[in-house]
Amino acid sequence: MKDNSKFSSFGVIVAMAGSAVGLGNIWRFPYLVGENGGAAFILIYLAIVLLISLPIFLSEFVIGKRSQSNPVGAFRKLAPGSKWHWVGILGVAAAFVLMSFYCVVGGWSTNYLVRSLGFQFSSANSPDFAGIFSNCVETTWPPIIYMVIFMIMTAVILLGGVKSGIEKFCKVMMPTLFFLVLFIAIYAMCLPGAGEGIRYLFRPDFSKITGNTLIAALGQAFFSLSLGMGCMVTYASYASPDENATRCSVITAISDTSFAIIAGCAVMPAVFAFGGNPESGPGLVFLTLPQIFEKMPLGSIVAILFFLALLLAALTSAISLVEVMLAYLIQEFKMKRGVALALVFALICVVGSLCSLSQGAVPGLKVFGMDFLSFMDYTSANIMMTIGALLTVIFIGWKLGKGIFREELTNHGTLNIPEWFVNMEFFIIKYVVPVVIILIMVASL
Ligand code: TRP
Repeated sequence: MKDNSKFSSFGVIVAMAGSAVGLGNIWRFPYLVGENGGAAFILIYLAIVLLISLPIFLSEFVIGKRSQSNPVGAFRKLAPGSKWHWVGILGVAAAFVLMSFYCVVGGWSTNYLVRSLGFQFSSANSPDFAGIFSNCVETTWPPIIYMVIFMIMTAVILLGGVKSGIEKFCKVMMPTLFFLVLFIAIYAMCLPGAGEGIRYLFRPDFSKITGNTLIAALGQAFFSLSLGMGCMVTYASYASPDENATRCSVITAISDTSFAIIAGCAVMPAVFAFGGNPESGPGLVFLTLPQIFEKMPLGSIVAILFFLALLLAALTSAISLVEVMLAYLIQEFKMKRGVALALVFALICVVGSLCSLSQGAVPGLKVFGMDFLSFMDYTSANIMMTIGALLTVIFIGWKLGKGIFREELTNHGTLNIPEWFVNMEFFIIKYVVPVVIILIMVASL
Protein backbone atom coordinates (compact mmCIF):
# COMPACT_ATOMS: atom_id res chain seq x y z
CA MET A 1 0.00 0.00 0.00
CA LYS A 2 1.12 3.54 -0.74
CA ASP A 3 1.90 5.66 2.29
CA ASN A 4 -1.01 8.09 2.54
CA SER A 5 0.76 10.20 5.16
CA LYS A 6 3.48 11.59 2.83
CA PHE A 7 3.55 13.79 -0.27
CA SER A 8 5.23 12.84 -3.52
CA SER A 9 7.89 15.21 -4.81
CA PHE A 10 5.44 16.97 -7.12
CA GLY A 11 2.83 16.81 -4.36
CA VAL A 12 4.86 18.97 -1.97
CA ILE A 13 5.15 21.70 -4.56
CA VAL A 14 1.49 21.77 -5.63
CA ALA A 15 0.33 21.57 -2.02
CA MET A 16 2.63 24.41 -0.95
CA ALA A 17 1.66 26.49 -3.96
CA GLY A 18 -1.96 25.68 -3.17
CA SER A 19 -1.53 26.98 0.35
CA ALA A 20 0.26 30.12 -0.80
CA VAL A 21 -2.04 30.99 -3.69
CA GLY A 22 -5.28 31.99 -2.04
CA LEU A 23 -7.69 34.79 -1.30
CA GLY A 24 -4.59 36.79 -0.47
CA ASN A 25 -3.56 36.82 -4.11
CA ILE A 26 -6.90 37.54 -5.72
CA TRP A 27 -8.69 39.48 -3.00
CA ARG A 28 -5.92 41.28 -1.12
CA PHE A 29 -3.05 41.84 -3.54
CA PRO A 30 -4.91 43.86 -6.23
CA TYR A 31 -6.40 46.30 -3.74
CA LEU A 32 -3.13 46.72 -1.87
CA VAL A 33 -1.48 47.55 -5.18
CA GLY A 34 -4.30 49.98 -5.81
CA GLU A 35 -3.95 51.72 -2.47
CA ASN A 36 -0.17 51.84 -2.41
CA GLY A 37 1.05 53.33 -5.64
CA GLY A 38 0.85 50.56 -8.24
CA ALA A 39 4.16 49.35 -9.62
CA ALA A 40 6.13 51.01 -6.84
CA PHE A 41 4.36 48.68 -4.42
CA ILE A 42 4.96 45.68 -6.70
CA LEU A 43 8.70 46.40 -6.83
CA ILE A 44 8.94 46.67 -3.06
CA TYR A 45 6.86 43.55 -2.70
CA LEU A 46 9.20 41.60 -5.03
CA ALA A 47 12.23 42.76 -3.08
CA ILE A 48 10.65 41.68 0.21
CA VAL A 49 9.70 38.27 -1.16
CA LEU A 50 13.25 37.68 -2.29
CA LEU A 51 15.04 39.15 0.70
CA ILE A 52 12.73 38.31 3.61
CA SER A 53 10.09 35.75 2.68
CA LEU A 54 12.30 33.25 0.93
CA PRO A 55 14.69 32.87 3.90
CA ILE A 56 11.73 32.47 6.28
CA PHE A 57 10.26 29.90 3.92
CA LEU A 58 13.54 27.98 3.94
CA SER A 59 13.62 28.13 7.75
CA GLU A 60 10.13 26.65 8.05
CA PHE A 61 10.99 24.02 5.47
CA VAL A 62 14.12 22.97 7.36
CA ILE A 63 12.22 22.70 10.65
CA GLY A 64 9.46 20.57 9.10
CA LYS A 65 11.69 18.35 7.02
CA ARG A 66 14.22 17.67 9.77
CA SER A 67 11.62 16.90 12.45
CA GLN A 68 8.98 15.22 10.25
CA SER A 69 6.52 16.57 12.84
CA ASN A 70 3.69 19.03 13.39
CA PRO A 71 4.82 22.55 14.47
CA VAL A 72 4.65 21.84 18.21
CA GLY A 73 6.27 18.40 17.97
CA ALA A 74 8.88 19.84 15.61
CA PHE A 75 10.22 22.35 18.13
CA ARG A 76 10.02 19.68 20.88
CA LYS A 77 12.14 17.31 18.79
CA LEU A 78 14.69 19.88 17.66
CA ALA A 79 15.01 21.65 21.02
CA PRO A 80 14.03 19.11 23.66
CA GLY A 81 13.38 20.37 27.15
CA SER A 82 13.18 24.01 26.06
CA LYS A 83 10.31 26.44 25.76
CA TRP A 84 10.61 26.64 21.95
CA HIS A 85 7.53 24.49 21.41
CA TRP A 86 5.52 27.59 22.37
CA VAL A 87 6.37 28.94 18.94
CA GLY A 88 4.57 25.92 17.54
CA ILE A 89 1.59 26.50 19.82
CA LEU A 90 1.48 30.13 18.69
CA GLY A 91 1.43 28.87 15.11
CA VAL A 92 -1.44 26.46 15.68
CA ALA A 93 -3.37 29.22 17.47
CA ALA A 94 -2.68 31.66 14.63
CA ALA A 95 -3.92 29.12 12.11
CA PHE A 96 -7.13 28.87 14.12
CA VAL A 97 -7.62 32.63 14.31
CA LEU A 98 -6.90 33.08 10.60
CA MET A 99 -9.12 30.18 9.58
CA SER A 100 -12.07 31.48 11.54
CA PHE A 101 -12.36 34.53 9.30
CA TYR A 102 -10.92 32.91 6.15
CA CYS A 103 -13.89 30.50 6.13
CA VAL A 104 -16.28 33.48 6.18
CA VAL A 105 -14.71 34.99 3.07
CA GLY A 106 -14.62 31.47 1.58
CA GLY A 107 -18.37 31.37 2.20
CA TRP A 108 -18.92 34.68 0.39
CA SER A 109 -16.96 33.30 -2.57
CA THR A 110 -19.10 30.16 -2.62
CA ASN A 111 -22.26 32.25 -2.47
CA TYR A 112 -21.08 34.46 -5.34
CA LEU A 113 -20.18 31.42 -7.43
CA VAL A 114 -23.65 29.96 -6.90
CA ARG A 115 -25.24 33.30 -7.84
CA SER A 116 -23.09 33.66 -10.95
CA LEU A 117 -24.12 30.15 -12.00
CA GLY A 118 -27.71 31.39 -11.79
CA PHE A 119 -26.70 34.36 -14.01
CA GLN A 120 -27.69 36.78 -11.27
CA PHE A 121 -25.03 39.26 -12.38
CA SER A 122 -26.21 39.35 -15.97
CA SER A 123 -27.84 42.60 -17.10
CA ALA A 124 -30.90 40.62 -18.24
CA ASN A 125 -31.72 40.18 -14.56
CA SER A 126 -31.13 43.86 -13.68
CA PRO A 127 -29.09 43.00 -10.61
CA ASP A 128 -29.16 45.04 -7.43
CA PHE A 129 -25.45 44.79 -6.61
CA ALA A 130 -25.55 46.49 -3.24
CA GLY A 131 -28.52 44.34 -2.27
CA ILE A 132 -26.71 41.14 -3.26
CA PHE A 133 -23.58 42.18 -1.38
CA SER A 134 -25.57 43.01 1.69
CA ASN A 135 -27.46 39.72 1.52
CA CYS A 136 -24.24 37.69 1.11
CA VAL A 137 -22.26 39.53 3.75
CA GLU A 138 -24.37 41.52 6.16
CA THR A 139 -27.39 39.34 6.95
CA THR A 140 -27.57 36.66 9.63
CA TRP A 141 -28.15 33.30 7.99
CA PRO A 142 -27.00 33.25 4.34
CA PRO A 143 -23.36 34.06 5.18
CA ILE A 144 -23.30 31.49 7.98
CA ILE A 145 -24.88 28.79 5.83
CA TYR A 146 -22.40 29.38 3.01
CA MET A 147 -19.53 29.43 5.51
CA VAL A 148 -20.62 25.99 6.71
CA ILE A 149 -20.86 24.77 3.10
CA PHE A 150 -17.31 26.03 2.52
CA MET A 151 -16.14 24.23 5.68
CA ILE A 152 -17.83 21.01 4.56
CA MET A 153 -15.95 21.12 1.23
CA THR A 154 -12.71 21.69 3.15
CA ALA A 155 -13.45 18.81 5.51
CA VAL A 156 -14.32 16.38 2.70
CA ILE A 157 -10.93 16.98 1.04
CA LEU A 158 -9.09 16.65 4.35
CA LEU A 159 -10.84 13.43 5.26
CA GLY A 160 -8.96 11.82 2.35
CA GLY A 161 -5.68 12.31 4.22
CA VAL A 162 -2.40 13.81 3.10
CA LYS A 163 -1.72 12.04 -0.17
CA SER A 164 -5.14 10.98 -1.42
CA GLY A 165 -6.84 14.08 -0.02
CA ILE A 166 -4.64 17.18 -0.08
CA GLU A 167 -2.17 16.14 -2.78
CA LYS A 168 -4.78 14.71 -5.12
CA PHE A 169 -7.02 17.78 -4.87
CA CYS A 170 -4.18 20.27 -5.36
CA LYS A 171 -2.73 18.33 -8.31
CA VAL A 172 -5.95 18.79 -10.25
CA MET A 173 -7.08 22.15 -8.97
CA MET A 174 -3.86 24.18 -9.07
CA PRO A 175 -3.37 23.83 -12.85
CA THR A 176 -7.09 24.47 -13.35
CA LEU A 177 -6.87 27.58 -11.21
CA PHE A 178 -3.82 28.82 -13.06
CA PHE A 179 -5.42 28.51 -16.49
CA LEU A 180 -8.66 30.10 -15.28
CA VAL A 181 -6.90 33.19 -13.99
CA LEU A 182 -4.57 33.37 -16.98
CA PHE A 183 -7.55 33.20 -19.31
CA ILE A 184 -9.41 35.95 -17.43
CA ALA A 185 -6.29 38.11 -17.41
CA ILE A 186 -5.81 37.78 -21.17
CA TYR A 187 -9.48 38.47 -21.77
CA ALA A 188 -9.44 41.52 -19.47
CA MET A 189 -6.32 42.92 -21.13
CA CYS A 190 -8.01 42.73 -24.54
CA LEU A 191 -10.91 44.92 -23.41
CA PRO A 192 -10.94 48.40 -24.94
CA GLY A 193 -9.57 50.83 -22.35
CA ALA A 194 -7.63 48.16 -20.49
CA GLY A 195 -4.30 49.90 -21.13
CA GLU A 196 -4.98 52.38 -18.35
CA GLY A 197 -5.27 49.53 -15.84
CA ILE A 198 -2.02 47.98 -17.02
CA ARG A 199 -0.29 51.35 -16.70
CA TYR A 200 -1.74 51.76 -13.23
CA LEU A 201 -0.31 48.38 -12.20
CA PHE A 202 3.09 48.76 -13.77
CA ARG A 203 3.95 52.45 -13.72
CA PRO A 204 5.85 53.15 -10.53
CA ASP A 205 4.62 56.08 -8.44
CA PHE A 206 7.26 56.36 -5.75
CA SER A 207 5.58 59.38 -4.18
CA LYS A 208 3.05 57.00 -2.65
CA ILE A 209 5.69 54.99 -0.78
CA THR A 210 5.48 55.64 2.95
CA GLY A 211 6.20 53.65 6.08
CA ASN A 212 2.75 52.20 5.75
CA THR A 213 3.52 50.92 2.26
CA LEU A 214 6.44 48.96 3.65
CA ILE A 215 4.35 47.47 6.42
CA ALA A 216 1.57 46.58 4.01
CA ALA A 217 4.06 44.94 1.63
CA LEU A 218 5.70 42.98 4.42
CA GLY A 219 2.37 41.83 5.83
CA GLN A 220 1.23 40.76 2.39
CA ALA A 221 4.50 38.93 1.71
CA PHE A 222 4.00 36.85 4.88
CA PHE A 223 0.31 36.31 4.40
CA SER A 224 0.55 35.37 0.76
CA LEU A 225 3.33 32.83 1.27
CA SER A 226 1.53 31.31 4.28
CA LEU A 227 4.46 32.08 6.58
CA GLY A 228 4.74 32.49 10.32
CA MET A 229 2.17 29.97 11.48
CA GLY A 230 3.70 26.58 10.98
CA CYS A 231 1.85 25.94 7.75
CA MET A 232 4.97 25.27 5.74
CA VAL A 233 6.48 23.39 8.70
CA THR A 234 3.51 21.03 8.56
CA TYR A 235 3.62 20.55 4.79
CA ALA A 236 7.40 20.12 4.78
CA SER A 237 7.03 17.45 7.46
CA TYR A 238 5.06 15.43 4.91
CA ALA A 239 7.90 15.71 2.40
CA SER A 240 10.49 13.01 2.03
CA PRO A 241 13.64 13.70 4.09
CA ASP A 242 15.61 13.95 0.86
CA GLU A 243 13.39 16.59 -0.74
CA ASN A 244 15.18 19.62 -2.15
CA ALA A 245 14.14 22.43 0.21
CA THR A 246 15.62 25.23 -1.88
CA ARG A 247 13.92 24.12 -5.07
CA CYS A 248 10.50 23.73 -3.42
CA SER A 249 10.76 27.10 -1.69
CA VAL A 250 11.86 28.96 -4.81
CA ILE A 251 9.19 27.37 -7.00
CA THR A 252 6.46 28.14 -4.45
CA ALA A 253 7.60 31.75 -4.07
CA ILE A 254 7.73 32.24 -7.85
CA SER A 255 4.32 30.64 -8.43
CA ASP A 256 2.70 32.66 -5.68
CA THR A 257 4.17 35.96 -6.83
CA SER A 258 3.44 35.44 -10.50
CA PHE A 259 -0.04 34.35 -9.60
CA ALA A 260 -0.62 37.56 -7.65
CA ILE A 261 0.57 39.66 -10.58
CA ILE A 262 -1.57 37.74 -13.08
CA ALA A 263 -4.55 38.20 -10.74
CA GLY A 264 -3.77 41.92 -10.72
CA CYS A 265 -3.80 41.84 -14.53
CA ALA A 266 -7.18 40.12 -14.44
CA VAL A 267 -8.71 42.65 -12.06
CA MET A 268 -7.22 46.10 -12.78
CA PRO A 269 -7.67 46.35 -16.58
CA ALA A 270 -11.33 45.44 -16.16
CA VAL A 271 -11.76 47.98 -13.38
CA PHE A 272 -10.31 50.73 -15.57
CA ALA A 273 -12.03 49.67 -18.77
CA PHE A 274 -15.38 50.13 -17.05
CA GLY A 275 -14.57 53.09 -14.86
CA GLY A 276 -14.54 51.32 -11.47
CA ASN A 277 -12.56 52.63 -8.53
CA PRO A 278 -9.23 50.77 -8.19
CA GLU A 279 -8.95 51.79 -4.55
CA SER A 280 -12.26 50.44 -3.37
CA GLY A 281 -10.51 48.26 -0.79
CA PRO A 282 -11.75 44.82 0.16
CA GLY A 283 -15.07 45.53 -1.56
CA LEU A 284 -13.22 45.46 -4.90
CA VAL A 285 -13.81 41.79 -5.57
CA PHE A 286 -17.36 41.46 -4.23
CA LEU A 287 -18.85 44.87 -5.05
CA THR A 288 -16.93 46.44 -7.92
CA LEU A 289 -16.15 43.39 -10.03
CA PRO A 290 -19.71 42.04 -10.33
CA GLN A 291 -20.79 45.44 -11.69
CA ILE A 292 -18.02 45.19 -14.24
CA PHE A 293 -18.97 41.65 -15.24
CA GLU A 294 -22.45 42.95 -15.96
CA LYS A 295 -21.15 45.45 -18.51
CA MET A 296 -18.51 43.21 -20.05
CA PRO A 297 -19.19 41.18 -23.20
CA LEU A 298 -19.63 37.53 -22.12
CA GLY A 299 -19.56 38.88 -18.56
CA SER A 300 -21.82 36.21 -17.08
CA ILE A 301 -19.39 33.54 -18.20
CA VAL A 302 -16.37 35.47 -16.97
CA ALA A 303 -18.14 35.92 -13.63
CA ILE A 304 -18.56 32.16 -13.27
CA LEU A 305 -14.91 31.51 -14.13
CA PHE A 306 -13.74 34.25 -11.78
CA PHE A 307 -15.71 33.12 -8.74
CA LEU A 308 -14.79 29.51 -9.44
CA ALA A 309 -11.13 30.56 -9.39
CA LEU A 310 -11.68 32.48 -6.16
CA LEU A 311 -13.30 29.45 -4.52
CA LEU A 312 -10.58 27.02 -5.65
CA ALA A 313 -7.87 29.38 -4.42
CA ALA A 314 -9.61 29.70 -1.07
CA LEU A 315 -10.09 25.94 -0.70
CA THR A 316 -6.49 24.93 -1.37
CA SER A 317 -5.38 27.48 1.27
CA ALA A 318 -8.06 26.57 3.78
CA ILE A 319 -7.02 22.91 3.75
CA SER A 320 -3.46 23.91 4.62
CA LEU A 321 -4.64 25.99 7.57
CA VAL A 322 -6.88 23.27 8.95
CA GLU A 323 -4.15 20.66 8.38
CA VAL A 324 -1.88 22.55 10.80
CA MET A 325 -4.44 21.99 13.53
CA LEU A 326 -5.13 18.39 12.48
CA ALA A 327 -1.46 17.44 12.47
CA TYR A 328 -1.12 18.88 15.96
CA LEU A 329 -4.17 17.09 17.39
CA ILE A 330 -3.39 13.79 15.68
CA GLN A 331 0.29 13.64 16.60
CA GLU A 332 0.28 15.27 20.03
CA PHE A 333 -3.02 13.92 21.37
CA LYS A 334 -3.19 10.68 19.38
CA MET A 335 -6.62 11.61 18.04
CA LYS A 336 -8.10 9.82 15.05
CA ARG A 337 -8.15 12.00 11.93
CA GLY A 338 -11.94 12.00 11.78
CA VAL A 339 -12.29 13.00 15.43
CA ALA A 340 -9.74 15.80 15.14
CA LEU A 341 -11.47 17.04 12.01
CA ALA A 342 -14.89 17.05 13.69
CA LEU A 343 -13.50 19.03 16.63
CA VAL A 344 -11.76 21.64 14.48
CA PHE A 345 -14.79 21.89 12.19
CA ALA A 346 -17.11 22.63 15.12
CA LEU A 347 -14.79 25.19 16.74
CA ILE A 348 -14.17 27.04 13.47
CA CYS A 349 -17.87 27.14 12.67
CA VAL A 350 -18.65 28.71 16.06
CA VAL A 351 -15.95 31.40 15.94
CA GLY A 352 -16.49 31.87 12.19
CA SER A 353 -20.17 32.60 12.85
CA LEU A 354 -19.17 35.37 15.25
CA CYS A 355 -16.90 36.86 12.55
CA SER A 356 -19.73 36.62 10.08
CA LEU A 357 -22.29 38.23 12.40
CA SER A 358 -19.93 41.13 13.06
CA GLN A 359 -20.30 42.18 9.42
CA GLY A 360 -23.69 43.76 9.93
CA ALA A 361 -26.17 41.46 11.62
CA VAL A 362 -24.79 42.21 15.10
CA PRO A 363 -23.10 45.61 14.81
CA GLY A 364 -22.01 45.55 18.46
CA LEU A 365 -19.57 42.66 17.88
CA LYS A 366 -16.48 44.83 18.13
CA VAL A 367 -13.08 44.42 19.75
CA PHE A 368 -10.89 47.51 20.19
CA GLY A 369 -13.15 49.42 17.83
CA MET A 370 -12.71 46.89 15.01
CA ASP A 371 -15.49 44.57 13.93
CA PHE A 372 -14.70 41.03 15.06
CA LEU A 373 -13.72 39.79 11.58
CA SER A 374 -11.26 42.63 11.03
CA PHE A 375 -9.94 42.09 14.53
CA MET A 376 -9.22 38.40 13.81
CA ASP A 377 -7.64 39.37 10.48
CA TYR A 378 -5.48 42.01 12.15
CA THR A 379 -4.45 39.79 15.07
CA SER A 380 -3.45 36.83 12.94
CA ALA A 381 -1.97 38.55 9.91
CA ASN A 382 -0.24 41.49 11.59
CA ILE A 383 0.62 40.28 15.08
CA MET A 384 0.74 36.49 15.41
CA MET A 385 2.35 35.85 12.00
CA THR A 386 4.98 38.52 12.45
CA ILE A 387 5.96 37.22 15.87
CA GLY A 388 5.82 33.63 14.60
CA ALA A 389 8.10 34.42 11.68
CA LEU A 390 10.50 36.37 13.90
CA LEU A 391 10.82 33.51 16.41
CA THR A 392 11.21 30.96 13.60
CA VAL A 393 14.21 32.69 12.09
CA ILE A 394 15.73 33.32 15.53
CA PHE A 395 15.35 29.60 16.19
CA ILE A 396 17.22 28.66 13.01
CA GLY A 397 19.84 31.40 13.28
CA TRP A 398 20.62 31.30 16.98
CA LYS A 399 19.53 27.89 18.23
CA LEU A 400 19.68 25.27 15.50
CA GLY A 401 22.74 26.77 13.84
CA LYS A 402 24.37 26.76 10.46
CA GLY A 403 25.56 23.16 10.53
CA ILE A 404 22.06 21.72 10.62
CA PHE A 405 20.78 24.37 8.22
CA ARG A 406 23.45 23.36 5.70
CA GLU A 407 22.77 19.65 6.24
CA GLU A 408 19.08 20.14 5.50
CA LEU A 409 19.63 22.35 2.44
CA THR A 410 22.22 20.06 0.90
CA ASN A 411 20.71 16.83 2.25
CA HIS A 412 23.94 15.95 4.04
CA GLY A 413 26.06 17.04 1.13
CA THR A 414 24.30 15.02 -1.56
CA LEU A 415 22.64 18.03 -3.22
CA ASN A 416 24.65 20.52 -5.13
CA ILE A 417 23.64 23.74 -3.36
CA PRO A 418 26.46 26.31 -3.59
CA GLU A 419 28.16 27.16 -0.31
CA TRP A 420 27.74 30.91 -0.89
CA PHE A 421 23.98 30.46 -1.15
CA VAL A 422 23.83 28.61 2.16
CA ASN A 423 26.02 31.25 3.81
CA MET A 424 24.04 34.14 2.38
CA GLU A 425 20.65 32.71 3.38
CA PHE A 426 21.90 31.86 6.84
CA PHE A 427 23.29 35.35 7.31
CA ILE A 428 19.96 36.86 6.25
CA ILE A 429 18.09 34.53 8.59
CA LYS A 430 20.34 35.23 11.53
CA TYR A 431 20.69 39.01 11.24
CA VAL A 432 18.76 40.70 8.45
CA VAL A 433 15.27 39.24 8.88
CA PRO A 434 15.07 39.76 12.68
CA VAL A 435 16.30 43.35 12.39
CA VAL A 436 13.90 44.18 9.56
CA ILE A 437 10.92 42.61 11.33
CA ILE A 438 11.70 44.38 14.61
CA LEU A 439 12.20 47.73 12.87
CA ILE A 440 8.92 47.43 11.03
CA MET A 441 7.10 46.33 14.20
CA VAL A 442 8.45 49.33 16.07
CA ALA A 443 7.59 51.64 13.19
CA SER A 444 4.03 50.39 13.05
CA LEU A 445 3.51 51.21 16.72
N1 TRP B 1 -1.54 32.23 1.68
C1 TRP B 1 -2.95 32.22 1.71
C2 TRP B 1 -3.49 33.35 0.84
O1 TRP B 1 -2.76 33.99 0.18
C3 TRP B 1 -3.53 32.30 3.08
C4 TRP B 1 -2.94 31.30 3.98
C5 TRP B 1 -3.05 29.99 3.92
C6 TRP B 1 -2.07 31.55 5.03
N2 TRP B 1 -2.31 29.39 4.90
C7 TRP B 1 -1.72 30.34 5.58
C8 TRP B 1 -1.57 32.69 5.54
C9 TRP B 1 -0.84 30.25 6.64
C10 TRP B 1 -0.70 32.60 6.60
C11 TRP B 1 -0.33 31.40 7.12
O2 TRP B 1 -4.68 33.57 0.82
